[in-house]
Amino acid sequence: MCGIMGYIGGRDALPILLDGLRRLEYRGYDSAGVAVYTGERLEIRKAAGKLRRLVEMVSAAPVQGTVGIGHTRWATHGNPTDYNAHPHSDCRGHIVVIHNGIIENFLELKEELHRRGHRFQSETDTEVLAHLIEEAYEGDLERAVRHAISRARGAYAIVVLSSHEPDKLIACRQISPLIVGLGDGETWLASDIPALLPYTRKVMVIEDGEMATITRDGVRITTLNGEVVEKTPIHVTWDAEMAERGGYPHFMLKEIHEQPRALQETLMGRLDHAGQISLDGVSLPDIFVERLEKVWLVACGTAYHAGLVGKWLLEHLSRIPAEADLASELRYRDPLVFGTNLTVAISQSGETADTLAAVREMKARGSRILAITNVVGSTLTREADDVLYIRAGPEIAVASTKAYLTMLVALTMLAIELGRRRKAIPDERLNALLYGLRELPGKAQDVLRREPEVLELAKRYAHCQDIFFIGRGLDYAVAMEGSLKLKEISYVHSEALAAGELKHGTLALVTDGVPVFALCTQRHVREKMLSNIQEVKARGAMVVAVAYEDDREVASLVDHVIPIPPVDDLLSPILAIIPLQLFAYYVARERGHDIDQPRNLAKSVTVE
Ligand code: G6P
Repeated sequence: MCGIMGYIGGRDALPILLDGLRRLEYRGYDSAGVAVYTGERLEIRKAAGKLRRLVEMVSAAPVQGTVGIGHTRWATHGNPTDYNAHPHSDCRGHIVVIHNGIIENFLELKEELHRRGHRFQSETDTEVLAHLIEEAYEGDLERAVRHAISRARGAYAIVVLSSHEPDKLIACRQISPLIVGLGDGETWLASDIPALLPYTRKVMVIEDGEMATITRDGVRITTLNGEVVEKTPIHVTWDAEMAERGGYPHFMLKEIHEQPRALQETLMGRLDHAGQISLDGVSLPDIFVERLEKVWLVACGTAYHAGLVGKWLLEHLSRIPAEADLASELRYRDPLVFGTNLTVAISQSGETADTLAAVREMKARGSRILAITNVVGSTLTREADDVLYIRAGPEIAVASTKAYLTMLVALTMLAIELGRRRKAIPDERLNALLYGLRELPGKAQDVLRREPEVLELAKRYAHCQDIFFIGRGLDYAVAMEGSLKLKEISYVHSEALAAGELKHGTLALVTDGVPVFALCTQRHVREKMLSNIQEVKARGAMVVAVAYEDDREVASLVDHVIPIPPVDDLLSPILAIIPLQLFAYYVARERGHDIDQPRNLAKSVTVE
C-alpha cells in the first residue's frame, strides 16, 4: 500500500526521489520520507501528512547526495505520525530501511531485539528490519539483509541503504511489488512503473523471494539463498506524458476523458471482419473450451463490479455457468472446483493481495487461470496461464474509471469468443455485437458531451446525505459501480439496489427529496423498471434516469434524464457508467475533497 522509490547514479538524488514519490503518492499519502547518503552520513527527512509537507521540509533543510531512498506511506502499523513515517533506521543511524507490506511477526522480533538492547523510535513493524540488519552486519550488507529477511514473516518489498556500503541499494521482495529501472550509469527502484517513466522504459521486475543489489552499473538479482537469477529487461510502451495530468485539474477527470481512446486501444487488432476475435495472450485449447464447466470471476472493488457484468455476459453469450466472487471471500469459503474450470482474475494493478491469494487457491484446486489486467509484468500475470491486457494506459487516480470500462470490453470479447467457439451465438447476433463494440469509442465520446448537464446535477445534489442507485440485470451491476464511485470520493452515503429488492426494506429510506438514480438500459426489464421508478416517485424521490436517448417514456416520468446513445443491451454498462463517474467527480469537487487521493483509500491494496 505504500510507495517506494530508490535512486543511485550521478545526479542529485533528492529531486528524483521526490518526483517518484509524487507519482507514487496514489499508493499511500499519510506520510512520506527520504534518506540520502551525503558522502559522509545518512540524512533522513520525514513528515506526517501529504507529500507537500516533506517537500516544504526538504526545501528548508535540503539533503544532497547521489544515492537515496524515498517512501510514501499508507499506515498499517502505527499511526501516521512523523516518527512512524519511513525511512526507519537502526540504533546508530548507519542503516535505513523503507518497506511496503506487513511483517507479521514483528512484535515477537521487537521484544527479542529490545531485550538485546535495541532502542526503537517508532511503532512500526518496519523498524525491526533495520535493527535485525544492524545486528547481523559483519562487513557484508547483502548477507546481513538476507539474514534479517529470513527472520521476517509476511509480505514485503524493502529497500535498504547503509553508510557502511553506500555504493549500493539492496531490495527484497515477498508479495509487494518492486521494479528496477535501468539507465546508463544510473539505476532506479520503484513500486510501480509510472514513477520510472520520466527516466527509463527499460525495467526489470523483481519477483517473490528475490533480492536485487542495485548499483550505478545495473542490477544483480539473486534468490534469498544467494543463487544468481538471470533476467531479460522488459521494454515498457507507456510514455511519461501518459502519467501526467496534462492540463486536467485531477487525474480522475483526465482518465474519464481518456476512456474513448482507451476503448479503442483495448479493441485494437482484436476484432476481425470475419467475426473472429483474436485475444493475444489467451490460448485456451479447443478441448478445454469444449469441456469448460464453470467460470469463476474473481476480483476486488471496481474490478469485482466488472466481474459482475462479466458473469452476466459469459452466461448469456457462451451459456457456461459463471459466478462472480469477491476475492477476499472466495479464498476462505472452500470453493467447489470440479472438472474443467476457468478462473478469470480481474485486477487493474495485478497486485491486489486478496485477488492473488484467491488465484493461488483456485490454482491449487485445479482451475486454469486467465488474468485480465492493465500492468505488464505484474504478479498476477506471472501466476496466470493466460493474460488478457486491457491496455488502459497508466491509471493514477484512486477511483478507477478507464480500467473499469476497458475491463468490461475485455470481458465482452472473452464472452463472445467463448460463445463463438461453443457455437452458442447465432452469426447475426455475433456480427451485431462486433459492430456494437467497434462503435463504442465514438459513443463513449457522445456520452462525455453530457458533462455540463451532469455538472448541474452534481451542484444540485452535492449536499444530500444519501443517494440511491437502482437497476435490474446488468444495470444493477452498473448501479453498484456508480454508488461505489460516489462513496469513494465524495463521502456521501450511498447504496445500490436491485430495483426489485427496494420494497423489501430500503424503500423505507426513500423520502421527500432523496435522489435516486435509476438505470434503465435493459429493454427486457424496462417495464419493471418503470414500475420501480413510480414506486420511488410516489415516496417523494427525485429521480435521475440514465436511459437510451430514444426512450421518451422514461424521460416523461423522471425529474432528469441523462441520455446515452442506443446500443445492444449487453454493451450498455460501458456507456451508462460514464455519467455516474462524472457525477461522483463533480459532487466530490463541489464538496471540496481531494479527488485523486480520497481519505483512507489507496490505489493498490497489497495487504490482506
Ligand atoms: C483498491 C482501489 C480500487 C480497486 C481495487 C482493486 O481498493 O482503490 O479502485 O478497484 O483496489 O484493485 P485492482 O488493482 O485489483 O483492480
